[in-house]
Amino acid sequence: MIVNGKHYRTVWFEDGMVKMINQHLIPHRFDVAGFRTYRETADAITDMVVRGAGAIGAAAGYAMAQGMLEAPDDMFKEGIREAAEYIRKARPTAQDLFYAVELVLDAAREKNPPEARAAAARTAETIANDNAEACKSIGVLGADLIKSGYRIGTHCNAGWLAFVDWGSALSPIYAAKRQGKEVFVWVDETRPRCQGARLTAWELGQEGIPHAIIADNAAGHYIRRGEMDMFIVGADRIAANGDVVNKIGTYEKAVLCKENGVPFYVAAPTSTIDRKCPDGDSVPIEERDCDEVLSMFGWDGHRMETVRIAPQESQARNPGFDVTPARYVKGIITERGIIEASEKGIAGLQEKT
Ligand code: MRU
Repeated sequence: MIVNGKHYRTVWFEDGMVKMINQHLIPHRFDVAGFRTYRETADAITDMVVRGAGAIGAAAGYAMAQGMLEAPDDMFKEGIREAAEYIRKARPTAQDLFYAVELVLDAAREKNPPEARAAAARTAETIANDNAEACKSIGVLGADLIKSGYRIGTHCNAGWLAFVDWGSALSPIYAAKRQGKEVFVWVDETRPRCQGARLTAWELGQEGIPHAIIADNAAGHYIRRGEMDMFIVGADRIAANGDVVNKIGTYEKAVLCKENGVPFYVAAPTSTIDRKCPDGDSVPIEERDCDEVLSMFGWDGHRMETVRIAPQESQARNPGFDVTPARYVKGIITERGIIEASEKGIAGLQEKT
């Protein structure tokens, strides 16, 4: 991604630190944060300095590599195990986090500490590179679905910031724009953390793509009036039967699209598929702090401030994700092709490897 004329990735390793674009401050400030230890990096995932499935996965891979650097030679196995356990607890839903931890552990298995550390660093870098490449391919393949003049709905942020580069749901839109097609994007604000209003809107602005932010409960209005030609979202985990777990609010958009004949696509790299989860109901859904619902946060001109909107005595519930059953999904755009959201479609991917 190009920000202020410079190419950035969302997460990278430099000067002994995991660096990441600080997503707390966007769109008001552009700042890069650095983390020296695996615990700091994992805490940055938990605190959502970095968020979005692919970016979380890359950060987790680098955190694992940091864990191996930190583990002393004489307690290497124990040190690695402790790091892996700590990183796996950073967030529960995004499959890429678990995928990255396992890949780095696998690369280091049966090696002595210096070899294991070198293999871990290489693997973490490969995870990040593969994520950026996969997202670029998703863009190229997905752009074929977009006709000039399309008005496209999206939910949450599945753009560059949610991955290492390019994004999943937004990548086809960026590719279509570069092919000279005219596109307009309806951006769901995505309460409670407003990833749509803050992050997706900012990204689209950087790319010069016309868009409008809408309250989450306004999407149905535009879908029913025929003002959306297609809908594309990302995914945090895709189950073996094609059910899609994505940001809370995705399910209702998919149902509304089906009801109104609007094609609803999911874009995700194959690293997001969890074949061990037979269906969406077996995916752990993160329950987040209720204060995110009871309050609003935003920029007061100097800093991020939180203001209470609900009565002091009110309680809330705050699921971070929901399950969209496969039958509502027109297709899953992966780096290896656009597949059917079904057991058959997902199993077919295995044959393509
Ligand atoms: O809670 P977040 O911001 O980490 O949520 C993840 C997401 O960004 C979305 O669910 C997204 O649509 C899929 S991940 C690219």
